[in-house]
Amino acid sequence: MTHAPVVDVLKGKYAVGEQVTVKGWVRTRRDSKAGLSFVALHDGSCFDPVQVIALNSLSNYQDVQRLTAGCAIAVVGSVKESQGQGQALEIEASTIDVVGWVENPDTYPMAAKRHSIEFLREYAHLRPRTNVIGAVTRVRNCLSQAIHRFFHERGYYWISTPILTASDTEGAGEMFRVSTLDMMNIPRTDKGDVDYSQDFFGKETYLTVSGQLNVETYCNAMSKVYTFGPTFRAENSNTSRHLAEFWMIEPEVAFADLADVAQLAEDMLKYVCKAVLEERADDMAFFAQRINKDVINRLEKLVKSDFVRMDYTDAIEILKASGKQFEFPVDWGVDLSSEHERYLAEEHVGAPIIMQNYPKDIKAFYMRLNDDGKTVAAMDILAPGIGEIIGGSQREERLDVFDERLEKMGLDKEDYSWYRDLRRYGTVPHAGFGLGFERLVAYVTGMQNVRDVIPFPRTPGNASF
Ligand code: 4AD
Repeated sequence: MTHAPVVDVLKGKYAVGEQVTVKGWVRTRRDSKAGLSFVALHDGSCFDPVQVIALNSLSNYQDVQRLTAGCAIAVVGSVKESQGQGQALEIEASTIDVVGWVENPDTYPMAAKRHSIEFLREYAHLRPRTNVIGAVTRVRNCLSQAIHRFFHERGYYWISTPILTASDTEGAGEMFRVSTLDMMNIPRTDKGDVDYSQDFFGKETYLTVSGQLNVETYCNAMSKVYTFGPTFRAENSNTSRHLAEFWMIEPEVAFADLADVAQLAEDMLKYVCKAVLEERADDMAFFAQRINKDVINRLEKLVKSDFVRMDYTDAIEILKASGKQFEFPVDWGVDLSSEHERYLAEEHVGAPIIMQNYPKDIKAFYMRLNDDGKTVAAMDILAPGIGEIIGGSQREERLDVFDERLEKMGLDKEDYSWYRDLRRYGTVPHAGFGLGFERLVAYVTGMQNVRDVIPFPRTPGNASF
């Protein structure tokens, strides 16, 4: 007999009267005076659990009456039209096998009641059994599948870029060092520096902060590529938007400029949000009810309307004219902080903004210098409720301009020799961006903190599970 996912039973894949086996975990159990029990069983395949009816004629009915939240069971039964309100279909059990008991129900942390999201974080191994984390997980999966589909349909190749690297892509020094040196007995050079020649890779190595520099090499050969993988930042930011380990999607396009990748980012966001609305209506209804009532409306609006494009210089004027008292003062040349981004996206525009052409001094070394000599062809996409979700740019493809920039920023040419080669051998204009995956999932679901949209969050002081 088929082992049926709950989603198939509820969607009517099996005829009324047909025998099915369902397996999963008990969410709740309710006994009626008429001598039967109703068990809500979930298996993660969709938001709703299926209702299982257990009659007291079952040989192990006493076991059924001991079922508590979290017990694992296997049910054989027939599909029935439901008498009660709510679901159309349920299962009348002919057998219920208890696969795994909950040892002591009083100590089971995921008992069927509403827990705070902070409480759930303490139980990263059990929280996927809750409604909220189950819904986040399905939406996260839907988004990542849609991202791959989007790029595949447009002829992009997925490139696996390395996790271990010697390059600091962002030049911000926020890297986790990877070393095989004996910490109790660190080898030193004559000058007293750490002697990395004795380390595994023969030089200082880190966890990558971005796959961009690597993916640029493939872009300069395969034309349209992207990387999608984990990235790491040792920035000590204890905020609701920062993780030490997060996933990033980084497309890179040859013969393209900033406007081209801004459009690509807009198309991609619309495509993946549409996929969630179509494929995860059950989970989105839950988020709208429990987390943020506007969450479906704003996705529908995003899918339908053009993104606003705004120059950094104009944004500064808007912020100055807003009459708001910002904690961080606004002036041309400052980096926009989260309060500025939020004001612009939430109050001024009320929809995602593509912010472009930032001052060169606040942006990374690889961004293409604009003709004004002051700004670079960079863009950030700011979303209401979360702020920056995408950062991207046209890359500096002119070797002389690039070298000048490296020198001004005090970076060593030698460290970028292979990257410079791309500018020496058949250089082309190219551009790309990085989408912070957890920020996207948070935006789509309305979840307030990126720690709750990644299975095992890594933040300062937290890498236990
Ligand atoms: O703006 P960032 O640092 O850009 C890059 O890494 C470029 N190399 C991307 C590229 O052009 N290929 O980061 C890109 C995005 C941000 O917009 C943000 O959404 C996310 O990555 N991000 C983080 N997400 C969670 N936790 C952190 N600590 C993050 N840092 C950046």
